Amino acid sequence: EIDPVKLMKQEVGKAAAALVESGTIVGLGTGSTTAYAIQYIGDRLKSGEIKDIVGIPTSFQAEVLAKEYGIPLTTLDAVDHIDIAIDGADEVDPNKNLIKGGGAAHTREKVVDALANKFVVVVDSGKLVERLGSTFKLPVEVIPMAITPVMRAIAKLGGKPELRMGIRKAGPVITDQGNMVVDVTFDSIDNPAELEKTLNNIPGVLENGLFVGVTDVVLVGEVKDGKPLVY
Ligand code: A5P
Repeated sequence: EIDPVKLMKQEVGKAAAALVESGTIVGLGTGSTTAYAIQYIGDRLKSGEIKDIVGIPTSFQAEVLAKEYGIPLTTLDAVDHIDIAIDGADEVDPNKNLIKGGGAAHTREKVVDALANKFVVVVDSGKLVERLGSTFKLPVEVIPMAITPVMRAIAKLGGKPELRMGIRKAGPVITDQGNMVVDVTFDSIDNPAELEKTLNNIPGVLENGLFVGVTDVVLVGEVKDGKPLVY
């Protein structure tokens, strides 16, 4: 019995990988959906269907997967643009604004995704929401020495902050940059653009998971009558 969510993620990952052209610089996102896109980009390279791709990873996860699937990597210091970035999301609203950071990678993701000439989001239909923050807490990356004043400042803004704890690690989750993550519940996020700026203005906040006005294309995976489809 094949898991329908896995099927949706695979199909949407494949559809995104099909958008990658020879000779391009590709931002490689983080998460279980993008992992399939990375795998299929690797497959297309191996089969010779595309060539001369170079990837910019958004996390250690993307870096490890790219190496596993044979995608050459570079850094932002070595390139002057990114042609396409493919990345997942935790929520997508009708304006293509996002909440990201479920994998604690949103800071590097925002750098890479925002630079890309074309930013393609890959999600299963369960990620679509009318209003951001309705199903997912907003991740905020914070430098460790500022964690207490930042959590206080977020509470003052009306958010309920929780320090993200490790699952197979004792103590807080530590990001790829050596910071901590606070997951914030808001009653309602009415103005994502404003909240994105307000949060980033708190001293000690590195970056939050609101991505406003960055997305070009959203590929949604769905299973209908047992068959996967992408739109
Ligand atoms: C990583 O920090 C996130 O922004 C991911 O892109 C997001 O959590 C999507 O992951 P899944 O595809 O595993 O749901």
